Amino acid sequence: MKVLVTGGLGFIGSHTVVELQNKGFEVVIIDNLSNSSIEVLDGIEAISGVRPLFEELDLKEKSRVEEFFKAHKDIVGVIHFAASKAVGESVNEPLMYYENNLNTLIYVLKSVLHLDSANFIFSSSCTVYGQADELPILESAPVKPAESPYGNTKQIGEEIIVDTCKVRSNLNAISLRYFNPIGAHASAKIGELPLGVPQNLVPFITQTAAGLREQLAVFGDDYPTPDGTCIRDYIHVVDLAKAHVVALQRLLEKKNPENYEVFNIGTGKGSSVLEVIQSFEKVTGLKLNYKIAERRAGDVIQAFADTSKSNEVLGWKAELSLDDAMESAWKWEKHIRNI
Ligand code: UFG
Repeated sequence: MKVLVTGGLGFIGSHTVVELQNKGFEVVIIDNLSNSSIEVLDGIEAISGVRPLFEELDLKEKSRVEEFFKAHKDIVGVIHFAASKAVGESVNEPLMYYENNLNTLIYVLKSVLHLDSANFIFSSSCTVYGQADELPILESAPVKPAESPYGNTKQIGEEIIVDTCKVRSNLNAISLRYFNPIGAHASAKIGELPLGVPQNLVPFITQTAAGLREQLAVFGDDYPTPDGTCIRDYIHVVDLAKAHVVALQRLLEKKNPENYEVFNIGTGKGSSVLEVIQSFEKVTGLKLNYKIAERRAGDVIQAFADTSKSNEVLGWKAELSLDDAMESAWKWEKHIRNI
């Protein structure tokens, strides 16, 4: 069974390709290489023994998207990762973000509607909840006004799919709202490749330990949390990748009672910034150079998932720990820096 993974050379995409291959799916990847490297294909092949089909294509090129789908009518499902994802950049370049993330979604969805098997998995984010009123966060929690154009593209993206599902009963779609994806494949053959200075905590930690950055700044220690630092639900990217496979299988086996569903994908456990640092130091035996700094604008204080729905309905559960994730992230950093 052939599955299309857009953005399949990216961080979450590449790990999902491997998990799909592990379950016997044939994978075709579309990626425009704007924030990924062609060598990721070698990493995927080294793990699974199978080189996925690859098409270098920018999904904003509508006619090429249509041609692609005409040539691949046998696709049974699409997992759509391709999108720009830097929160800060989206504030400075809103039009680029709306153009990239929404046009591409619309073009892909239009083509999916013509497939015999119109199954679609959308890469959404816990950012849609903003600072939730209740923790842990349920899927039924209200969607809050987006803090950034990036966050808004995820909200609007979900709405586009909801509206389409209402009038196109052949379309079956699932949005997965990820909490904070971290870590890398245990083989250290694929992982995260941030461009420039990392904005996210874990790549900043591993780059600091590797000597690329002088010091990690912990953004605020005066929040109303047990140790004063912000709390997030850090999910191992391999667990997250597996959630995509399970969600796709649900659609293929027609187990979905509605043609649109949404699931939180997290561990259900919140960890503070200091706990993440402690985990890193424990599993690596290294001492991390960090200091407490000012709060970062736009940070929510706490976000962690209620995972009952994904556990019970999808039959999926995060299996790997924060320590596993930090260990794999460090192994990957050492691999790419030849340490
Ligand atoms: N942090 C630091 N120092 C850093 C980087 C991060 O202390 O150098 C802290 C942040 O303040 C936050 C925590 O580490 O408390 C996690 O920050 P990340 O940037 O790794 O993750 P976010 O929770 O901010 O970002 C996530 C997703 C985005 C999404 C955003 C919405 O990665 O895609 O949530 O809030 F848009």
